[in-house]
Amino acid sequence: MSDLNSIDALEAEIAAAVSVAPDLAALEELRVSALGKKGRVSLLMRGLGQMSATERQQMGPRLNGLKSSLSDAIASRKQALEYAELEQRLANETLDMTRPVRLGPLDTGRVHPVSQVMEELAAIFADMGFSVAEGPDIEDDHHNFEALNIPASHPARQMMDTFYLPPRDDGTTMVLRTHTSPVQIRTMLAQKPPIRIIAPGRTYRSDSDQTHTPMFHQVEGLVIDTETHMGHLKGCLEEFCKAFFEIDAIKMRFRPSHFPFTEPSAEVDIGCARVGNEMRIGEGDDWLEILGCGMVHPQVLRNVGYDPDEVQGFAFGIGIDRLAMLKYGMPDLRAFFDGDLRWMKHYGFRCLDVPTLAGGLSP
Ligand code: DAH
Repeated sequence: MSDLNSIDALEAEIAAAVSVAPDLAALEELRVSALGKKGRVSLLMRGLGQMSATERQQMGPRLNGLKSSLSDAIASRKQALEYAELEQRLANETLDMTRPVRLGPLDTGRVHPVSQVMEELAAIFADMGFSVAEGPDIEDDHHNFEALNIPASHPARQMMDTFYLPPRDDGTTMVLRTHTSPVQIRTMLAQKPPIRIIAPGRTYRSDSDQTHTPMFHQVEGLVIDTETHMGHLKGCLEEFCKAFFEIDAIKMRFRPSHFPFTEPSAEVDIGCARVGNEMRIGEGDDWLEILGCGMVHPQVLRNVGYDPDEVQGFAFGIGIDRLAMLKYGMPDLRAFFDGDLRWMKHYGFRCLDVPTLAGGLSP
């Protein structure tokens, strides 16, 4: 039979163990071994029944006191351990909100200004009812020259600094197309009027300096219908320029010119101001040439089997790289084709900023 002293010792022993229980599992073990059904304290309490009335009077309150003091000790240790565990979790699961977010490919990749401008062109002309046509970069003499009314003896052939490929077995010589105009021929051969197309793409001439690269980009435009005249051509180009440069009014000048595939032909200048290094479109008294155009030559129509007495049309050709330089203020054409990532980061466009007339052409 335990006496009061041994109960004091038991209390001290268990309380000491509880106060240093390293974790919740160890604490639970202690609780079961003291207060569980077969725990040491429970066994002692069960012994009360066999005691004499006087003994029970003494031991009853003491054992109840023991039970409640150990319960309290365990509860408070439990709270301390749970708190420590929470602290630990909070420390481990901390997010440093000040750290920069790592960008994914959609944010770091860039669209080249030439591609951007091509998208803008497609959006603007689509709004005017044009579709996009294509032709091969490697052309034959017929499409690049003959059918466009540029015979072998024509001086325009020399002016174009053509890249010729080695002669083929059948004696013909292919060229890298010197302009996008052969797409006019291909389109007219493949479709029936009315025709409204633009044809953006790569073009090649053996030429290289600060404003010329051997590969460059043009966009061709072609409209064929029964009643198409210079007024339509002017209106169409004016609408295009206003939309492209995102201004409400633009000054344009049509200068008489000559191209073998158009008659009459014109070169178009737009009004601009040179302010320091900057070029402002739509204001000022300077002029800047941006494109060639004209009414499709009757001989070109005949060359594709059309009757010039029944259909007529207009065409234009614009240098895309030049447009991009003007709109986005890039001074050196050669940098377009250097593939320098730093340049792309600076001048490139985000890939999800798709140009539309409704949403805005340029970001
Ligand atoms: N093909 C001409 C060039 O590369 C540009 C051009 C001028 C295209 C007049 C046209 C046009 O369609 O009508 O210089």
